[in-house]
Amino acid sequence: MANVRRMTRRQDETGQGRVAVVTGGGTGIGRATARALAADGARVLVVGRTAATLERTAAGQQGVRTLVADLTDEDAPERITSAALEAFGRLDVLVHNAAVVLPEPFGAVTREHARLQVETNLLAPVLLTRAALPALAAARGTVVAVGTAAVQGRRAFAGMSLYGATKTALDFLVRTWAVELAPWGVRAVGVAPGETDTGIGERMGWSAADIARYQAEAAARTPSGRVGRPEDVAWWVVRLARPEGAYANGAVVTVDGGASVV
Ligand SMILES: NC(=O)c1ccc[n+]([C@@H]2O[C@H](COP(=O)([O-])OP(=O)(O)OC[C@H]3O[C@@H](n4cnc5c(N)ncnc54)[C@H](OP(=O)(O)O)[C@@H]3O)[C@@H](O)[C@H]2O)c1
Repeated sequence: MANVRRMTRRQDETGQGRVAVVTGGGTGIGRATARALAADGARVLVVGRTAATLERTAAGQQGVRTLVADLTDEDAPERITSAALEAFGRLDVLVHNAAVVLPEPFGAVTREHARLQVETNLLAPVLLTRAALPALAAARGTVVAVGTAAVQGRRAFAGMSLYGATKTALDFLVRTWAVELAPWGVRAVGVAPGETDTGIGERMGWSAADIARYQAEAAARTPSGRVGRPEDVAWWVVRLARPEGAYANGAVVTVDGGASVV
């Protein structure tokens, strides 16, 4: 990692000039997070499989670059880390946001769907964190994992067992990385969104009517009275990743309008 540059005092103290990688940055929470990080003065590499959506995220944004990569590819962790270092010379914040959700009742779970969810939502963050660790250590950086509020509080998640299992494991990794990465000067935190209006329903193949009904039901059972917006989640990712947020370590912040406490 010869091209990891030394951090300046200014970057250290203000968060300006930091470099972030956001996986799944072409849509939804990832797009909002990339833009919020850029607005906060960071330079950002957004990663996903679809060039067009990544470019829409970067359009009009200062310091946002794109990388088309499939996180499940063998060489993805090294490619992504190298691309961030080549573009910006350092890596301060690694946001594991990309995920696939393939709802199915347990009797219908297939090997193919199980493997895709485990590889995308769990294995990819593990291998990318490992590849990025020297660069993150050089910057005394932060890993942020986007989980889900649906698995907070020892609840079941019927019909989404594999997705929920990957997100539960991600929360466990946040706690464990807080300990294991501490000697590297790297910390780990998580954000657990509740129902958020990102278009994920359309991408899961749900009809507009089903999405509207699901969101209305979610809003009705949420103390804040609405579902989340991508920006509601992005705000917390940015704050947790800032230098002033550095004493948060091993913590997962639930951002769900209170839905998980009723
Ligand atoms: N929306 C919600 O209600 C909700 C609730 C709780 C938690 N979350 C979590 O929040 C995060 C973002 O969700 P979202 O709602 O914003 O969903 P989304 O818009 O579907 O975002 C997922 C992103 O991941 C990317 N992606 C998927 N597989 C990939 C792969 N193999 N390689 C690279 N990129 C890949 C997708 O881009 P490409 O298809 O172009 O690759 C997409 O941009 C996820 O971790 C999700 O589990 C969402």
